[in-house]
Amino acid sequence: MTNSTVQPMRAIILYDSRTSGGSTDKLIDAIGNELAETGAYVEKAKCKATGDYSFLQDFDVVIMGAPVYYLLVSSQLLGALIQSNLKKHLKRKKIALFLTCGSPEAMATLLYLPQLKIHLVRNKILAEKIFSPQDVSSPDAIESFVDELDEAYKKDRKHRSASLSWSDEALELLEQIPSFFRSRIKTAAEEYAEEMGYTMITIDILEEAKADTGGL
Ligand SMILES: Cc1cc2nc3c(=O)[nH]c(=O)nc-3n(C[C@H](O)[C@H](O)[C@H](O)COP(=O)(O)O)c2cc1C
Repeated sequence: MTNSTVQPMRAIILYDSRTSGGSTDKLIDAIGNELAETGAYVEKAKCKATGDYSFLQDFDVVIMGAPVYYLLVSSQLLGALIQSNLKKHLKRKKIALFLTCGSPEAMATLLYLPQLKIHLVRNKILAEKIFSPQDVSSPDAIESFVDELDEAYKKDRKHRSASLSWSDEALELLEQIPSFFRSRIKTAAEEYAEEMGYTMITIDILEEAKADTGGL
């Protein structure tokens, strides 16, 4: 029986903004670059309220962020959480949240963040930050958000590795999978086992996860 090893984070920044080249666009580029420096694989995608979010299966962390306009989180991100299959594909994902807005942090935490969090009650939130107009171009503010996320991710993965093991047969099966897919399937199986409260991944559990999730 072998314990899990820590895999690099596969993160997607799912964002929205009305302003092309505005503060949110600049911020996500800066967050993406900073995160890539930690060894993470990072992509970004702009939200559409009616989009198809099945591509989230390729990522284990979803970083969601948007500006606030007229007291509401930008409409395509909020709309996607309500109208599209986004919530379905966020199942078992670890989340980080950020907002860009002009209001004081306390007000934004109380009024704006819950607009997103109400849709994410079953997800683990690894980090969250309100970026003021000054923070958006502050390397320190960006680094602090990325550090918080990176540390929480590593802690979460370490905890999972410590509490989960693979049977020799399950591990053998995993090793037969082409390396490109292996890490994704390993993570999906571990997330499933974690959610179900299993401490060892066996062939039976892999079969069960496959049947339950429609394929790992
Ligand atoms: C039309 C408009 C409405 C705004 N409404 C709010 C608001 O209700 N609360 C708030 O805290 N900030 C508000 N802001 C500030 C924006 O959230 C902030 O400037 C944000 O960084 C803009 O992001 P963007 O450059 O990607 O559009 C508003 C800005 C604009 C342009």
